[in-house]
Amino acid sequence: MQNMPIVSYAKALTLLDQLPSQYSKIFILTDSNTLRECLPVLFRFCPYLAAAKILTVAAGESSKSITTAAGLWAELLAAGADRKALLINLGGGMITDLGGFVASTYMRGIDFVQLPTTLLAQVDASSGGKTGVNLNGVKNIVGTFAEPVLNLQITIFLHTLPHRELISGFAEMIKHAIIAGGQHWADIRRDPPNFIYNEDLIRASIKIKSEIVAQDPREKGLRKVLNLGHTVGHAVESLSMRQDENPLLHGEAVAIGIYYEARLAQHLGYLSQDDCAAITVFLRQYYRIPTYTTDEIGELLIFMQQDKKNQSDKISFSLPFGIGDVRTDIFIDKDTITAIFHD
Ligand SMILES: NC(=O)c1ccc[n+]([C@@H]2O[C@H](COP(=O)([O-])OP(=O)(O)OC[C@H]3O[C@@H](n4cnc5c(N)ncnc54)[C@H](O)[C@@H]3O)[C@@H](O)[C@H]2O)c1
Repeated sequence: MQNMPIVSYAKALTLLDQLPSQYSKIFILTDSNTLRECLPVLFRFCPYLAAAKILTVAAGESSKSITTAAGLWAELLAAGADRKALLINLGGGMITDLGGFVASTYMRGIDFVQLPTTLLAQVDASSGGKTGVNLNGVKNIVGTFAEPVLNLQITIFLHTLPHRELISGFAEMIKHAIIAGGQHWADIRRDPPNFIYNEDLIRASIKIKSEIVAQDPREKGLRKVLNLGHTVGHAVESLSMRQDENPLLHGEAVAIGIYYEARLAQHLGYLSQDDCAAITVFLRQYYRIPTYTTDEIGELLIFMQQDKKNQSDKISFSLPFGIGDVRTDIFIDKDTITAIFHD
């Protein structure tokens, strides 16, 4: 797989240019927003892709479902997609997860290309080989490990991305910075809010994830550090999807997750007060951190208990022991977790 940490138009054009001759048919998967905002940009620099068949699903996390996937398999079949067909996923993490899943299962797997169009998908979702859909409100519970033939990070797509989405994607960059520590942690905190278009920061963030995934592609050990913020994050995201009219975005949920997990690590004596404050104060500059009622905490615990990585009654976490020192497989009982939310 070629995972290109940020490419120019010209480079992207050359790489995409080579695709049509290699495949029987090309399909481009978009959601309703990337159809409008990103497909014209793609066609402008790759006019020969205009012959591709466009598949479009509704924007939003609810499209990341087995029902939508089945609809896409049926569309591919009806359009005569064979094993030599190619699927190009043009969108955010919802599209790269869904499209990667559809491609990796259709006819036992056809080639696919990731063209991530959100900050979150560029620094995180499109790389690492995880694809999947949600089921019965549980995130990413059905999926595959599958690598695209090409993953291009083209930052021009970010220009139409709403500000809230940019800030959401920034949460995964903050996560990478806490994992790596050092210069990247310093850089990410120093830059003013237009950091989004700072390609060096984006490049550094992609590199952190890529290096971890390269050492542990199937999440047997080291890769679990990338789950920092996600035990609580997935739970608050699932709760919000169920009860809020305007649910949390994935990155916002991860930010809330990192916040509470840093406090948990401090409570357990793993993380110093200074490091915990550095993390939580920084997060509060960008994200609203909600508090939860006793009933809601009970629901969050139920979501956390569905995690495949848990052991007996204890819930599995990846926690910061310092900036640049995230450790995995920390198993914590429910009473301790509850105490953090009540603090
Ligand atoms: N596979 C992984 O390793 C991994 C990692 C992190 C997150 N994820 C998944 O990623 C998903 C979240 O990704 P996301 O935050 O990118 O959400 P998303 O794909 O839903 O995109 C967010 C919104 O931005 C719109 N959009 C996308 N690109 C745009 C552009 N350039 N201009 C204007 N609008 C644009 C979309 O239509 C959508 O409304 C979740 O499903 C999460 O589980 C997967």
